[in-house]
Amino acid sequence: MDKDLASIVLTEEQITQKVNAAAAWLDERFKDALTPPLAISVLKGSVFFFCDVVRAMKTKTQIDFMTVSSYGNSAETSGVPKIVMDLSASVHGRDVILIEDIVDSGHTLVRMKDLIIGRGAKSFTVVALFDKPARRQVDIKADYSCFETGDEFLVGYGLDYAQQYRTLPYVGILKREIYEK
Ligand code: PRP
Repeated sequence: MDKDLASIVLTEEQITQKVNAAAAWLDERFKDALTPPLAISVLKGSVFFFCDVVRAMKTKTQIDFMTVSSYGNSAETSGVPKIVMDLSASVHGRDVILIEDIVDSGHTLVRMKDLIIGRGAKSFTVVALFDKPARRQVDIKADYSCFETGDEFLVGYGLDYAQQYRTLPYVGILKREIYEK
């Protein structure tokens, strides 16, 4: 385990189980889809979860990416998610699957939902690896979340603190002294 972590919350094996369950849920939801859904990764945090879920799905999806940032190097949201890189595909008339690593305050999800529905998507489905309902500042939730968690600061498998720890293959709780110094 990385020395900056207090404990591990999801091992690689547990992540695989969560990924497979999320993919099976999406397959069931889109089993009658006539055209391939568009799966969108909200970068950077969702990159690994996204790649694993779309590859575990039996449903063929098309993929696209959007970079949205609201934390920067802080442990607290700015409350104003900034679109750093937009999609390349049109979402008009499409079934959109948004894949997030975590729903925390909810500001990012509200921004994405407004934008994608506003651009004329046919449907909007959100899958998140983690949900932190106690931290919510706006009323929104994922359609499917793999793991509900409290106020702990999670890193690894895409999740960062000040751009660090993303490439750890597991998810752990960051020691408080790292982000409170
Ligand atoms: C993180 C995470 C989510 C968002 C959730 O992204 O990946 O997209 O915060 O937080 P919220 O519910 O409070 O909006 P961040 O802005 O840190 O950018 P990153 O994905 O590049 O880490």
